[in-house]
Amino acid sequence: MTVYKKKLIVVSNRLPFVIQKDDLGNVIRKHSAGGLVTAVAPVVVENDGKWVGWPGPDYDFGEPLPESSVDDTSPTAGLKSSNVIPVALEPHLYQSYYNGCCNETFWPLFHSMPDKAVFSADYWKAYVEANELFARNTIKALENACDPDDPPLVWIHDYHLMLAAHAIRQYAANRQYKIKLGFFLHIPFPAWDLIRLFPWADEILQGMLACDLVGMHLQDYCINFIDCCSRGLGTRVDAKDMIVEHGGRYVRIAPLPIGIPYDRFRTLAVSAKRTIPEEKKVVLGVDRLDYTKGLPQRLKAFELLLAKHPEYIEKLEMLQIAVPSRTDVKEYQDLKEQMDQLVGCINGRFSTPTWSPIRYIYGTVSQQELAAFYRDAAVCFVTPLRDGMNLVAKEFVACQINDPPGVLIVSPFAGAGQNMLEALLCNPYELNETMETLHRALTMPEDERTLRMNYLRKREQSQDVDFWMKSFLRAIGRLDGEEAPV
Ligand code: ADP
Ligand code: F6P
Repeated sequence: MTVYKKKLIVVSNRLPFVIQKDDLGNVIRKHSAGGLVTAVAPVVVENDGKWVGWPGPDYDFGEPLPESSVDDTSPTAGLKSSNVIPVALEPHLYQSYYNGCCNETFWPLFHSMPDKAVFSADYWKAYVEANELFARNTIKALENACDPDDPPLVWIHDYHLMLAAHAIRQYAANRQYKIKLGFFLHIPFPAWDLIRLFPWADEILQGMLACDLVGMHLQDYCINFIDCCSRGLGTRVDAKDMIVEHGGRYVRIAPLPIGIPYDRFRTLAVSAKRTIPEEKKVVLGVDRLDYTKGLPQRLKAFELLLAKHPEYIEKLEMLQIAVPSRTDVKEYQDLKEQMDQLVGCINGRFSTPTWSPIRYIYGTVSQQELAAFYRDAAVCFVTPLRDGMNLVAKEFVACQINDPPGVLIVSPFAGAGQNMLEALLCNPYELNETMETLHRALTMPEDERTLRMNYLRKREQSQDVDFWMKSFLRAIGRLDGEEAPV
């Protein structure tokens, strides 16, 4: 990953690690789980870039950041603290901006679940304030980096920071600094019918249009965005070439599906110790505990499988690893309760003295352990109701080094379901179909498993995170030796 020789400043809500205190009161760095970090952290580390973001609620500002992570296999282990610009968020601001506007408004709305979305002027005010704060900290990083012969790339990530580019562009314009501003959205961008429900939708669209390039995982998301610009702002758009004219500039919108550090996961899979005994058949789920991931539906499909196919009793186990996520938000607390109840119910219904159908881990596991689970699972069961991409599906494929390999099931409502076409697709809203697909995966002949997995592996290996990074840089005209197409 040595393509990027220029200055790179990544801006995201969360730093790739969270600062915490251990039992002895020592300040430690812990890897943050999530697709954004898994994909972007290796790129920043390899290219000696800077990262502007929030270090978590336990960090005391002014305190030096620890130099290394507690998990030295995490992708953030090599990130130097001198390359990190921590953004201070006061608790009340964090509450209304992150828990409120980001997670109670944008998250459900952008995942096409408007009934769960809260629309609040206070949340919006906090969102504007937080975005200005991130912009100011980015400007601090820019002050040391602006060289007219070598303009830096400021790369803003995700729905938390859809307004930040505006202030950064203004600052740079006032000083006649040449910078490139890129934005990547890691979640879906929904249709106009949904976006228009948000009372300040125009400002969101204008904020994103302050960038030179707006990248999204899928063509469908880009089409939605362009349509929103045209219908919401009345901007001139070229839908064929995916260009939006705004403020006398041309903004490029590009489908750039994210990849994973494929070789890193493969290497981990080669060296990881076995945690699933060879004789055990396991259906694996790995997710943040989030209502978009379709976890209750997944458990219910597994329950139905045991009810309809008793031949699996004592022969099959479902291992669900769920990372605690956004635990201050009520929807997430409710989901945790629902999962605890469902797991208890299903285990109570089917367990025998020597076997329980579901093993449920509510916590984070290291990437090493994760690689072993991926490698040795018979099926990886990825059933989101809606998901921007879903990296778990890709990580599973990278870790499939056993012969014969396992089977991937993926929902068509995840970005991954749109381009991992050799996986088994199933609609998680339809319980019976989900159950039947799981049965099909568990009984799939070895040669079919091998054929499907070979295609999946090939694609993920060639379209890995390095490929994604290069595609983004090429699209924004910052890949060494190449000019911007716009
Ligand atoms: P999202 O971005 O919504 O969290 P993704 O599937 O795209 O969903 O990314 C999730 C990332 O978090 C993956 O890289 C995955 O390895 C990691 N992850 C998910 N669950 C766990 C877990 N229980 N322990 C460790 N890492 C996890
Ligand atoms: O991939 C979507 C995303 O919201 C990322 O931006 C984020 O880092 C990840 O999911 C985990 O969520 P959070 O940062 O809210 O814990």
